[in-house]
Amino acid sequence: MKTFGVIALATLSVGALAETIHTKVAILGGGVAGISAALNFTLNGMNDFVMVEARDVVGGRAQTAKLGNTTIEIGCNWVQGTGTNPINQLRLKYDLKTAVTSSSDLAYIDEHGKKVNATDRMNEFNDIRGKMQDMGLKRLAANQVDLSSRAALAINGWIPKTPMDNAIESFGYDLETGETAEVGSLEFSSLNGEASYVTDFGPNSGENLMVIDQRGFKYIFEQEAARVFKKGDKRLMLNTKVKSIAYNNKGVTITTDKDTIIADYAITTFSLGVLQHRDVEWVPELPDWKVEGLYGFHMATYTKVFLEFPTKFWDDVEMTLYANPNRSGLYSAWQNMNAPGYFPNKKDNYIFMVTNFQDNAYHVESLTDSQVQAEAMEILKKMYGNDIPEPVGIVVPRWTQDPLFRGSYSNWPIGELDQHHENMVAPLNNRVFFAGEAMSKRYYGFLQGAWFTGASAASNINQCIKKRCPTATYYPKIFNAKAKGVQVKRNVV
Ligand SMILES: Cc1cc2nc3c(=O)[nH]c(=O)nc-3n(C[C@H](O)[C@H](O)[C@H](O)COP(=O)(O)OP(=O)(O)OC[C@H]3O[C@@H](n4cnc5c(N)ncnc54)[C@H](O)[C@@H]3O)c2cc1C
Ligand SMILES: *[C@@H]1O[C@H](CO)[C@@H](O)[C@H](O)[C@H]1NC(C)=O
Ligand SMILES: *[C@@H]1O[C@H](CO)[C@@H](O)[C@H](O)[C@H]1NC(C)=O
Ligand SMILES: *[C@@H]1O[C@H](CO)[C@@H](O)[C@H](O)[C@H]1NC(C)=O
Ligand SMILES: *[C@@H]1O[C@H](CO)[C@@H](O)[C@H](O)[C@H]1NC(C)=O
Repeated sequence: MKTFGVIALATLSVGALAETIHTKVAILGGGVAGISAALNFTLNGMNDFVMVEARDVVGGRAQTAKLGNTTIEIGCNWVQGTGTNPINQLRLKYDLKTAVTSSSDLAYIDEHGKKVNATDRMNEFNDIRGKMQDMGLKRLAANQVDLSSRAALAINGWIPKTPMDNAIESFGYDLETGETAEVGSLEFSSLNGEASYVTDFGPNSGENLMVIDQRGFKYIFEQEAARVFKKGDKRLMLNTKVKSIAYNNKGVTITTDKDTIIADYAITTFSLGVLQHRDVEWVPELPDWKVEGLYGFHMATYTKVFLEFPTKFWDDVEMTLYANPNRSGLYSAWQNMNAPGYFPNKKDNYIFMVTNFQDNAYHVESLTDSQVQAEAMEILKKMYGNDIPEPVGIVVPRWTQDPLFRGSYSNWPIGELDQHHENMVAPLNNRVFFAGEAMSKRYYGFLQGAWFTGASAASNINQCIKKRCPTATYYPKIFNAKAKGVQVKRNVV
């Protein structure tokens, strides 16, 4: 009896702090997908929801840092695809300052530190990439089996032979997908590129605009969030970390580090990396078909290293490619942040930025800032000689190591089918819906992917509330493409 009394008292004191919140929908995560979902509900007159975000701000992977006198983007940086792309529409709405970036304004430094002209080889690569994209789309339409981007590059005549070839490829391919051609799906990366840059957003929408606005890329998302949540709105639960999600066919119970939320529906917008790492517990455990879907995809990493210098010693072009002889892509693609139209080309703004991918990114993230600086300086001395000054500032984002993201954006690896993707996206019991960049088949990796999937999850739930949930597809079993293709009886050509 006595023991019982102590427990009851303990429960009571916890209960006094922790609240139980009842709501129709819990939006989990306050990034672009979460904001888009909240806005869709609001514009549809549905206001009975909360948004739970672990950080003290909304915006998710849209994040800035300060280096010298400049606000820099440590996460998303480009509006990729213009025209009717909703991200481009927000750019226009808020007059976000951007620079047109061109991937042909390049300088090249070879493995001996010599300036060379590799324009012809770069053009050759770009040409092959175009052919490869056409091939991917044709194969997808014809229902042919997927192959790696590496195989597709080879079929179209790209066999990298020199360190410069590697630098060109890592700039022209890895920079986009965050992973190397060995692991990337040809068919779905072709669809991904075609959708954003060619087909979906109207004529002449294939532009890349780099955000240089000193309010930060996040500004446009904060402003959209402010249309939903006025100051002090209790529905916006910042600094609140989701611990577990319990679901059945009646509803969802979310346990956070502060409260319990009892909802009819939930939308998770957590990154694929967070979902794969099981930072959030599922009760009951996720079904096998969902796990198969989630783990079919990759969370890629793209790590920028920003260095500020007291003087500017690099070329005035936008990008300088260094042919690293030891490791393809490592400290290889350098961007001049003071190129015409970028940041002011003056003292306290001189920034040279290098981007690393996949294993190179993991390597960089594992070092301290001063170790990264030392490695980068060794490379820069090989490129420009020993007389260059030491940096006065450095910023190294570490997306893989951040438990709220665990990588930068998702990538579609070779061999995964539509069906795997549908399993990843399919709701659980028509109660837990999945949104976020990775859940977009056409625009995975891009901000518009996050935006569209957030709206779509909200719109689906609205249908559930009003009438009946839309039909969702998932595949309890996924079968091989016919393992033995059509045999052609003729001599091998
Ligand atoms: C380095 C980098 C460069 C990029 N470049 C571009 C680009 O140029 N163009 C482009 O279009 N896209 C780019 N992207 C991708 C783009 O940023 C993403 O597609 C988009 O921001 C994803 O939004 P989201 O809402 O799906 O996910 P997120 O932004 O990850 O939102 C999920 C939210 O959930 C929160 N969260 C996580 N765990 C918990 C928890 N347990 N409890 C509560 N909250 C939690 C997170 O804090 C986060 O705010 C880039 C991304 C990175 C990292
Ligand atoms: C940069 O900022 C510092 C202080 O933050 C200021 O003293 C300096 O004048 C600024 N430099 C330029 C070029 O704007
Ligand atoms: C490099 O070569 C290309 C094609 O051969 C040429 O058009 C271009 O002007 C050259 N660039 C420089 C900087 O010399
Ligand atoms: C490449 O490796 C060699 C041998 O370890 C080393 O001497 C050289 O400095 C390295 N070059 C670069 C660009 O890292
Ligand atoms: C909500 O999202 C759906 C699905 O994307 C879209 O068709 C609809 O127009 C959106 N509604 C509003 C009011 O934005």
